[in-house]
Amino acid sequence: EKGGYDYFMLKEIAEQPKAVADTLLGRIDANGSLTLDELRIDHSVLREIDKVVIVACGTAFHAGLIAKYAIEHWTRIPCEVEVASEFRYRDPILDQQTLVIAISQSGETMDTLMALRHAREQGAKVLAICNTNGSTIPRESDAVLYTHAGPEVAVASTKAFLTQLVACYLVALYLGQVRGTKWGDEIFEVIRQLADAPKQVEQVLTTMEPVRELARSLADAKSVLFLGRHVGYPVALEGALKLKELAYMHAEGFAAGELKHGPIALIEEGLPVVVVVPSPRGRSVLHDKIVSNIQEIRARGARTLVIAEEGDDAVVPYADHLVRIPQTPTLLQPLVATVPLQVFACELATAKGHEVDQPRNLAKSVTVE
Ligand code: F6R
Repeated sequence: EKGGYDYFMLKEIAEQPKAVADTLLGRIDANGSLTLDELRIDHSVLREIDKVVIVACGTAFHAGLIAKYAIEHWTRIPCEVEVASEFRYRDPILDQQTLVIAISQSGETMDTLMALRHAREQGAKVLAICNTNGSTIPRESDAVLYTHAGPEVAVASTKAFLTQLVACYLVALYLGQVRGTKWGDEIFEVIRQLADAPKQVEQVLTTMEPVRELARSLADAKSVLFLGRHVGYPVALEGALKLKELAYMHAEGFAAGELKHGPIALIEEGLPVVVVVPSPRGRSVLHDKIVSNIQEIRARGARTLVIAEEGDDAVVPYADHLVRIPQTPTLLQPLVATVPLQVFACELATAKGHEVDQPRNLAKSVTVE
């Protein structure tokens, strides 16, 4: 049932191109527009929304952080993201014009369920993004957009995360399409590029050998840091979470711009630092800033694993190890940039002799608060 792989996690990482394709399937029409009638929320309601609030836990929370960038950019609706376990305890401000999006692979996470119940009690509309048909979270929501990742068996989430991102992009683009924003043309173009994502994820998967090799060489490292900017920041958080849960190592993700406000004090000779580099095309200011961050940490002895777009030559002098990812629009980059981090964590954990499908102390679905 592991389809020839040693672990479910490896199988599920490899299944990501198909999972992404299945989540897109039937949702882009022949004209290149989105058809999400399955949401069953009237366009009039979608046009009235004045705030989006995303609640989720763990990896799904990281998908939510990325969704915020997409939703605010394409729709200009303010969007907040909160870990579900904190949400209701601070008496959040919600009303009928708030769209709450609950993201959950299992659909049974108690923290997320309690957050959505609280949101509905306050009159907010709740949309679930979920991978498990008929589970509790979609049943208690006003609407649901299913991710079609197929069953995810490994405790660490991989293909579910990528499909959560796809679902979030679809919601963001759909809201933009229904409401009409100044980004109309860009939205059309991004839908076209999203349709190419399965191929791009496939491409990344063929270039993972150097990542595996590096991961194996780091089995004795005490700590690994992850840096990113913009949507690369939540990708860094996700890379660190994967490493904590699988390799039981200290790992932390930072917004690269925060380095100088404290974390740079952690940098010492030989410390492995993974850096997710934004595209040099488009928002090139971010790219140039992160290149100087890489210079700074390298000058202090860090050993850098740089994840950068094909054709980005500026990073080459500062990369002890370089992983290339395909060119994508900035907002879609997490779909390809996350893959090397999953492979990295899986391989490092295996090198340490850990059971990657069943990490200690963790359960696949957390049904207690
Ligand atoms: C990390 C992981 C967890 C889950 C979190 C939410 O690899 O699997 O952080 O993402 O427990 O679970 P769901 O998405 O089922 O609500």
